[in-house]
Amino acid sequence: MAALHTMLGGSLVGFLFLLISGMNSGKAYGLAERESRSIARINKRGPYLGIVIPNTFEMNPLLQSPSFAPDPKLPQLDILGKRFRIGRIGDKNVILVMTGLSMLNAGVTTQLLLTLFRVEGVVHYGIAGNANPDLQIGDVTIPRYWAHGGLWNWQRFGDGPDDELPLESSGDYRREFGYLNISDYNIAGSRGKGKSKESNYLNNVWYQPEEIFPVNGVPEERQHAFWVPVDGNYLAVSKKLQGLKLGSCVNGTTCLPRPATVVAVERGISANIFVDNRAYREFLRSKFNVTPIDMETAAIALICLQQRTPFIALRSLSDLAGGSSASSNEASVFGSLAAQNAVDAVIRFVALLGS
Ligand SMILES: *[C@@H]1O[C@H](CO)[C@@H](O)[C@H](O)[C@H]1NC(C)=O
Ligand SMILES: *[C@@H]1O[C@H](CO)[C@@H](O)[C@H](O)[C@H]1NC(C)=O
Repeated sequence: MAALHTMLGGSLVGFLFLLISGMNSGKAYGLAERESRSIARINKRGPYLGIVIPNTFEMNPLLQSPSFAPDPKLPQLDILGKRFRIGRIGDKNVILVMTGLSMLNAGVTTQLLLTLFRVEGVVHYGIAGNANPDLQIGDVTIPRYWAHGGLWNWQRFGDGPDDELPLESSGDYRREFGYLNISDYNIAGSRGKGKSKESNYLNNVWYQPEEIFPVNGVPEERQHAFWVPVDGNYLAVSKKLQGLKLGSCVNGTTCLPRPATVVAVERGISANIFVDNRAYREFLRSKFNVTPIDMETAAIALICLQQRTPFIALRSLSDLAGGSSASSNEASVFGSLAAQNAVDAVIRFVALLGS
C-alpha cells in the first residue's frame, strides 16, 4: 500500500473507494456497502497511525486514557470480526485494533488494517516475557530487530550441524540461524548433578527465516527474512522516550526495586509459544541476544516489511520468563503496571511523532 500511496497521491481516496466499494460492491472483501462507505469516509480524513494491540488487558488502559479521543461521529467500525477504533492521540489520527492471541491473529489483523485503511505507519505495543536479567518488570523495551522464532526445521536423530537439512538444496531451509540441541538440557539420572552427555532422540531444532513476498516484489518470487528491522525514523524518535517517568508501584504499595524505564534493546523474538521455562529463555538470550519474548510482534513486523509500512514495537516486561526464583509468574502481580507503562510510553511516542 505504501507504494500505492506515493504513486496515487491525491487520488488515493478515490482509488480505495473504487477498490473497496466499486468492483462487485466490495464483495471481494466480504464487505457490505454500508461498511465500504464508512471506510471511504474514514480514509478521507486520513492518513492514520495504526495502533495494533494484542488483547483487551493491554488495550483498556489506552481506551481509558484522557489522551485518547475517540472520533465523535464514527468512533468504531466492526469489519470481518475485527473492531477498528477511530480517534486521535494529540495531533495524530489513529486507528486502534486488537488482534487476539498469537501470530496468525496478529498477521491477519495487521494486513486487514493496511488493506482497508489509509495507514502511514504501525505502532505496536503490549507486555512481554523478559529474557534479559539486567532489566526489570515494568521496563518498556524498544528492540531494533524482531524475528519469528517458531519456524523450525527439526533435524532427524543422528544428523548434526555438518549434515544438510531436508530441502536445503532447493533453498527452502538453511543452517544459518543456529540450533537448539535438546540433549544440552538432559538431566542425568534422578539424583544426578549436571548434564548428561547422552544424546536425545529429539536431537536439534534449526530456526528458519520467513518466506516473504513484498508488495513491490514479484508475486510468487520469495525472499527471506529472519531479523526484521523496525523503522529507522521511528527508532530515532523513540530515543526521546528515555527518561520518561513510568509507574513503579501497584496500588501505591507494592513497588518495584527501582523506577521503571524505557530501554532501547537490540532484539526481540515472537512465536506461538508461551515461554514460562527458564532453560528455553536462557537459550533464546544466549543464542539470539533477545530481550522481550512475545507471541505477536514479529508477525506484525513481517506484514509491515512486506507492505513497506513503517513499523515499531514497544513491549513492556511483565516477568522474567520462566521465573527468577521459586516464586510464581510475576505477571500476575505486575502485569497491569506493565500494561499501563506500555500505554504511557506509546502515548508519549505518538505525541512526539505528531510534534
Ligand atoms: C548436543 O549436546 C550434547 C550434550 O551436550 C553433545 O554431546 C552433542 O555433541 C551435541 N550435539 C550437537 C549436534 O551439537
Ligand atoms: C491491588 O488492588 C486490587 C484491588 O483492590 C487487588 O485486587 C490486587 O490484588 C492488589 N494488588 C497488589 C499487588 O497489591
